[in-house]
Amino acid sequence: MRKITAITFLVIAVGSASATIESSLQSTLMSKLYKKFSYYRSGIKADISWLIADLKFKDGNVKICEFGEGTRSRYKGHDAMHGKGTMWRFFWNYFKQFNVPPYYIGPAVFSADDRQEIRYEQLSALGGKTLYRTAELAHVATLRNHRKKKHTLALADHAGLLMFRHIDASGFSILDFKSRNPDLLVLNAAVAPFVNSKYLTNILFLEEKYAPYKPKFVLCKKEYSSNLAAEIHKKLQCERYVIKPLYEFKGRGIIMADQQDLDTVLQCMLDKNSLQEQKNKKIYSNDRELFDFWQRSKKQHFLVEEYCPSNSMTIKDSLYDPTMRLVFTLHYDQGQVHITYLDAFWKIPVKSLDRENCSLTQRCKSKGTIPAKVSSEDYEQVKKQFDAFMPSLYKKMIDLINGDVTF
Ligand SMILES: Nc1ncnc2c1ncn2[C@@H]1O[C@H](COP(=O)(O)OP(=O)(O)O)[C@@H](O)[C@H]1O
Ligand SMILES: [Mg+2]
Repeated sequence: MRKITAITFLVIAVGSASATIESSLQSTLMSKLYKKFSYYRSGIKADISWLIADLKFKDGNVKICEFGEGTRSRYKGHDAMHGKGTMWRFFWNYFKQFNVPPYYIGPAVFSADDRQEIRYEQLSALGGKTLYRTAELAHVATLRNHRKKKHTLALADHAGLLMFRHIDASGFSILDFKSRNPDLLVLNAAVAPFVNSKYLTNILFLEEKYAPYKPKFVLCKKEYSSNLAAEIHKKLQCERYVIKPLYEFKGRGIIMADQQDLDTVLQCMLDKNSLQEQKNKKIYSNDRELFDFWQRSKKQHFLVEEYCPSNSMTIKDSLYDPTMRLVFTLHYDQGQVHITYLDAFWKIPVKSLDRENCSLTQRCKSKGTIPAKVSSEDYEQVKKQFDAFMPSLYKKMIDLINGDVTF
């Protein structure tokens, strides 16, 4: 079988070096990633990861907008429909099968509200504890000695599971700690290096078998030029685009643009002087906060993706383009991958599709705070699609970290 690496695909997908693609960024990101991998000295032999996927769903087909760490996501919309902490309840119900105590690294003071949000009583019933950030690692290292050490590395043999809400689980200090304490699990260790960068997430999908599940994309240098929009369009050939920062969340910096407005939108993002021009004023003033984000941003690159709609949804006689949030876990134990679905809900944009006097972004970008229920038919179809690619994509992340495959 011919082995084609993801990088080869990237070149196929975006063409050769040009103003829109920065090969130096690729190598910087890759060397940072491989430096992280070197911390997993003995490789990943067991893992538990909790993920969210924001996805578009049309005519039975899934397109992934992004992944995120389940612990770092808020479930406000879901909580509003089902009660505070319900998603965490689902997580704990799943997690109890491993019989491993969870250690939640969080703030110094846990308010009653915080405890309810993470269903503290369930964590505690599993023999777990919450620990304050700065004291975290040393404290856990002593806790682990209370458990008899074994040398098989099945999930159930681990001395505890560390979980972080406010910290990227692939931060260097955490990886360093993990490498010195291999009998402790870090939740999301296998996925965090990839899912906390939208660019690396996209790259995972470049292989032929995964490509249908991800919108087309191109990586651009954050520098305005009068042919940038044309170059992007030449490569992606879409009617509508989504502009994305690589490392933000909560919709920060996400701007939608129709093809004919792409140049104006790029100008408003990247060229301060252009804001004086009459033709740019309307586009700018509708999404001032988003354009100001880009004007301030010191980052060197951004992504442009194909805009993929979902089947539209009627709410109070108006049509909306929703985004589904699927919440699921993956674990890897004795060579086997398991996927478990916790729940799914729709997120709705603030404005309906037919709404006038507002921006395209307001009509197209969903908000986690405006929820709707997913029908069981849609849920089943989405799960079926995930069954087809997600376990092997997860194994690919583990294999990349373990050095068994390369990009
Ligand atoms: N390729 C896309 N096509 C259509 N809508 C998208 C696309 N990418 C993102 N969106 C919309 O923008 C929202 C925010 O983008 P997302 O990639 O989830 O980043 P964030 O980390 O900011 O939530 C999504 O929930 C979805 O509504
Ligand atoms: Mg999102």
